[in-house]
Amino acid sequence: MKIQDLQKDWDAFGRSDPLWAIITDPSKLGRRWEPEDFFAMGVQEIDALMKEVAGLGLEFPRRRALDFGCGVGRLSQALASYFDEVHGVDVAPSMIEGAERFNRHGDRCRFHVNSVDSLALFAENYFYFIYSNITLQHIEPIYTKRYLAEFLRVLAPGGVLVFQLPHRPFSPFKQWVKHSLASTALSVFRRFGYLSRPIMVMNGIAHDEVIRLLECHGGKMIKVVDDPSAGRDWRSYRYFVAKPNHAGRGQL
Ligand SMILES: C[S@@+](CC[C@H](N)C(=O)[O-])C[C@H]1O[C@@H](n2cnc3c(N)ncnc32)[C@H](O)[C@@H]1O
Repeated sequence: MKIQDLQKDWDAFGRSDPLWAIITDPSKLGRRWEPEDFFAMGVQEIDALMKEVAGLGLEFPRRRALDFGCGVGRLSQALASYFDEVHGVDVAPSMIEGAERFNRHGDRCRFHVNSVDSLALFAENYFYFIYSNITLQHIEPIYTKRYLAEFLRVLAPGGVLVFQLPHRPFSPFKQWVKHSLASTALSVFRRFGYLSRPIMVMNGIAHDEVIRLLECHGGKMIKVVDDPSAGRDWRSYRYFVAKPNHAGRGQL
């Protein structure tokens, strides 16, 4: 799916039921999430993440952090307890409007709509910490690879990148059938105007390829762990990557 189509779909989710589109608990469908509970989950997630990062002996300045695919700022606001300045980036204007409405940190949390496959809005070496959760799984691999390279460009030497990304389905054949049938049907329905509802697609990139790409762009793999957030059908990982002070770029 092209970024413009992804943007349309996520913008529609952001207008209709943003908190459910982010954390798809069936009991919360129909705007049933209490914002307080929803944001409390973000605080728990970031507290656990920061403990894990500290446990790996990774230290970096607590100045600027990036939350890529920030939605309504569930994780960006939680990161503001650890960093002076947090930037949330999302493809959907409606999600960013929501993030600005929910923001309790004033200028310390800044939100940006980004509808291209780069992070050209940020200078090289700008962030000390980058986090992306349950976002790259919705993006076509061709774009995700560009974002991964961009993460390493905007990460300062000595900084840390953590992200979640599916590897492949547990049953690739079943997933391939599901995906091919669904994408053919959807593109036909869309073309003839029968599909107006947004959809959420899932994607993955093989673990070895991710590691190769990160290393090629100057990243140093610290740890890769299983991550359950892509659901039962997908094997998914969480990657912890550092950018060494001498980081250089290689050839793929
Ligand atoms: C499941 S939500 C997760 C939101 C947030 N990471 C959280 O955990 O609360 C996925 C988010 O990724 C955003 N997204 C999808 N494609 C994107 C892209 N190419 N660039 C930036 N954000 C994107 C969607 O608009 C949506 O807000």
